[in-house]
Amino acid sequence: MKKLVKLDGDAIYGLCENFFDEIGRKWTVIAINDEQNERTNLMTASWVQTGILWNKPVCTLYIREQRHSFSLAEREEKFALMFFDEKYKNELVYFGTKSGKDEDKLASAGMTPCTLDGVGAVCEANIVFVLKKLYCDYLKEDAFCDKAPLSNYESKDFHKFYICEIESVYKAE
Ligand SMILES: Cc1cc2nc3c(=O)[nH]c(=O)nc-3n(C[C@H](O)[C@H](O)[C@H](O)COP(=O)(O)O)c2cc1C
Repeated sequence: MKKLVKLDGDAIYGLCENFFDEIGRKWTVIAINDEQNERTNLMTASWVQTGILWNKPVCTLYIREQRHSFSLAEREEKFALMFFDEKYKNELVYFGTKSGKDEDKLASAGMTPCTLDGVGAVCEANIVFVLKKLYCDYLKEDAFCDKAPLSNYESKDFHKFYICEIESVYKAE
């Protein structure tokens, strides 16, 4: 199996991946420690941004309240965002359709758990961002300048967004 290797401080600026493709087409997986169940929970996410804020490399995640990952993200200070090869698409569909409330998705998928800087992740990932929460809030109905995206919220279940610092980056060798 490939090995995840930690990149040097500024190496994130040298990443050549097309993150529009990685996030929008290949999707990402958020891994968060589930202390109560003594496992790492995995949730597929494709509404994600990466960029720079407050002069830091950041990632913004959007998590609906009904997800098991939501209660975990509220509790934990740090978590991981992972990028995978297309060959894991079936696993990503599974992580995006079943809830960690009911099962250990990582174990059921037969993937290999690892810990990176104290945060749970999966050895099969191509890239792992170790994230630290900086700022969180709910999207608010009256703040939408264009009302069209409100069609995603018929039940008014607005996402909470988590702006996170990318503290470290691991890449498969
Ligand atoms: C391609 C794809 C992208 C998704 N993106 C998000 C997302 O960005 N935010 C979110 O709250 N749910 C998203 N979901 C839904 C969650 O992954 C799904 O509800 C999952 O079962 C939640 O798992 P959990 O209950 O273990 O947290 C996505 C699902 C798929 C299949």
